[in-house]
Amino acid sequence: MLFDHKSAWENEKIYNEIYQNSIKDPEAFWNCHLKDFYWKKKPISSFDKNSSEWSLNGISNVSYNCVDRHAINSPDKPALIWYGDEKGERRQISYNELKNMVIKIASLLKSEKIKNNDVVAIYMPMIPEAIAAMLACSRIGALHLVVFAGFSPEALAYRLESSKAKILLTVTSSRRGGKKIEILNNANCAVSKMTQPCKTLNLDNLQNLEVKINEEIYWQDNQDNLFILYTSGSSGNPKGIVHSALPYMLYTATTLKIILGINSDDIYFSTSDIGWITGHSYITYAPLFHGLTVVIFEGTPTYPEADRYWEIIENEKVSIFYSAPTAIRSLQMFDDALVKKHDLSSLKTLGSVGEPINKSAWEWYFNVVGNKQCPIMDTWWQTETGGIILAPLRNLEQKPCIAGKPFFGNIVKITDDYGNIITSSNSLGNLIINSNWPGKCRSTTYKSEKINFAPNKAFITGDGAIYDNNFDIKIIGRLDDVINISGHRLGTAEFECAINKVHSVKESAVVAVEDSIKGQTAFAYVVIEDIVNHEKIISEILKSTKRCIGPIAKPDFIVFVPDLPKTRSGKIIRHLLRDIANNHNYNEKDLSSVYNQEIVPILYKASQEPFFCPDICKLKR
Ligand code: WTA
Repeated sequence: MLFDHKSAWENEKIYNEIYQNSIKDPEAFWNCHLKDFYWKKKPISSFDKNSSEWSLNGISNVSYNCVDRHAINSPDKPALIWYGDEKGERRQISYNELKNMVIKIASLLKSEKIKNNDVVAIYMPMIPEAIAAMLACSRIGALHLVVFAGFSPEALAYRLESSKAKILLTVTSSRRGGKKIEILNNANCAVSKMTQPCKTLNLDNLQNLEVKINEEIYWQDNQDNLFILYTSGSSGNPKGIVHSALPYMLYTATTLKIILGINSDDIYFSTSDIGWITGHSYITYAPLFHGLTVVIFEGTPTYPEADRYWEIIENEKVSIFYSAPTAIRSLQMFDDALVKKHDLSSLKTLGSVGEPINKSAWEWYFNVVGNKQCPIMDTWWQTETGGIILAPLRNLEQKPCIAGKPFFGNIVKITDDYGNIITSSNSLGNLIINSNWPGKCRSTTYKSEKINFAPNKAFITGDGAIYDNNFDIKIIGRLDDVINISGHRLGTAEFECAINKVHSVKESAVVAVEDSIKGQTAFAYVVIEDIVNHEKIISEILKSTKRCIGPIAKPDFIVFVPDLPKTRSGKIIRHLLRDIANNHNYNEKDLSSVYNQEIVPILYKASQEPFFCPDICKLKR
């Protein structure tokens, strides 16, 4: 297949041609991109049609591809440029220095008897050592489990315990928004709650660390996995998603190359955190695989002033900037002069991920940040998909807010609730993926939830979508019980579990309501035992969500109600609560499934005046 990756994602005609070929023969498409790897043993086949599994019969190592080969070819090229919370804090790490850091951490893990397939947890802020720690695990074939440093000790302990992590890599503290976060204290507190042994190692002073250097590399084959990452589902506790090593690397590297259209000299800045999938796929693995210079930022975009991103882009001449709608919306509130005072002319492509981007944020991003010169790559994907599944073409004739086209080799459809494929435009349905792709996750840590990717079985994404008039896909948002707060994916079940721990709470139901900055926020319906002090219960609820999940999981609205709407069998009808909380008129709803219908007007009235729990850290104006 003749393949010009630069133009493939820029022009509709070329896209259509390559897309059709990639669906007919996905193996041929993927084989084109195997040459981007260093192979210890070259692969012969990439797709097993019988098992419907990607099998790259070659041998390689992800970390070697991301670090060592660049350290040989361009040792002095900056791999990572770190910006700290305070202005002026900057570190630059060359590929050669990154290699030394990776080898040092890998040797440390080896000296602790960590071997391939063991789980090593990483609870660290956005610093070069955290990325080196991930790469050190993949160098020796251990699976890393990164836990977002904003999660509470309780949330960390749950992840350590259920993944059977043997080591916890951490640092003493981090600074964000001028505040110190005691990471080591939280880590120690988590480990003290565990029933199995897990040793904490502090990576504060990597330079001075005395360790016997072991340069051995674990060569990965098709069976090997790269990491576990926990994410929220629509029921129960967060689930650990397992990703493969080599097929995942192939998918993320190829999507970055084609969709974001990178060149080897790009300066790449993604504002995510390594605690989320974007920080795995599109901060660590794909950009370093291609030998880019990756800018990382430990602070917050508004501290000390709301021009931190723009200042960094100007200083480093960033060409690709990949951020999230919530960050864009929060920066849009400030004076445009804060953007305009910086020279952002180095920007070539802008990206967005994590939640649907609204029109006004899209237009501000395009007009003010990109100066009408940069396409906005509104990329849709999930922790489970490993990499980008949908994105618009990379040109200036874009339609705002349309994630657009499936990546090559993927068949993406919209179905109604009975599984029938929707073929008309503008009707809302469930987004499904009806194909196999190398980036798909292997499994979850819960056998009962094992994701079924058998041939002819579609992967149901949980998102709602519509086709526009041109049959491009527009994502509407989650249809299930997952709430996307500022791009942080949290399950209503996790909130409810935390709220129900409060002594006088009988039961609760949490739903998502729209929020102009965060995209969505949590609205909690709480049934309490007796007439008690509401203020006191609110404060206990907030303490409990903070303790069980972390400060990011704070319901903004709480309302006390005598009962919840239920079916005859006692199931809470959350979609009705979601409608009521979003102030939609319940009179238009079909209430036939509600057993206790008399509660509906009471819920509606109570929802008009919920208790509002103001943000702990309101944005500075
Ligand atoms: C949402 C993040 C609209 C979606 C990479 C999905 C989006 C969930 C977009 C996955 C987008 C992500 N437009 N919605 N461009 N990107 N989402 O697993 O609801 O943290 O199901 O992965 O984020 O969140 P996750």
